[in-house]
Amino acid sequence: MRLTFGAIGLFCLVGLVQSHPFYEVANPDQIVKSIPAVASEFPYTTLLKLNGSLCGGSLIGSSHVLTAAHCLYDHAVSEVSSFNVIVNMLSVGGGGNGAVIRGVKNFIVHPNYNPNTQDNDVALLVLNSPITNIEPVVLPADTRDSSVRAQ
Ligand SMILES: *[C@@H]1O[C@H](CO)[C@@H](O)[C@H](O)[C@H]1NC(C)=O
Repeated sequence: MRLTFGAIGLFCLVGLVQSHPFYEVANPDQIVKSIPAVASEFPYTTLLKLNGSLCGGSLIGSSHVLTAAHCLYDHAVSEVSSFNVIVNMLSVGGGGNGAVIRGVKNFIVHPNYNPNTQDNDVALLVLNSPITNIEPVVLPADTRDSSVRAQ
């Protein structure tokens, strides 16, 4: 799968990305008008365990997770052996029936990510083996820019 960066369409997905690392589970009663997800309702929603920090992402292909650059900015690629990616789970504990766990072999932060302005706050994780039994999130079609596509 080749993914072309620098295109507007991808940034539509950033809304799916957890915007800040989190360490505590919020009390569900404190989330206004929330409805708990049921098992496998959003299987592509991805929990990232990044050597001590937690973040979120979206499975966008069998071997690729889209996340925020600020999740990875403080990490080195040499740390990937300590990273875990969990899809099809319902809690930050990452457990549950059908949860799928993978390691990470590489990550790529948008080359124009700006940690001061959060411009281009996008990054990709490359999994150490593909996830073939969970459907990735469907990317938006963008007919304005033919360079936007996942292959
Ligand atoms: C995880 O992070 C700690 C603290 O920054 C660092 O010392 C350690 O080497 C990292 N682990 C790996 C596997 O890189």
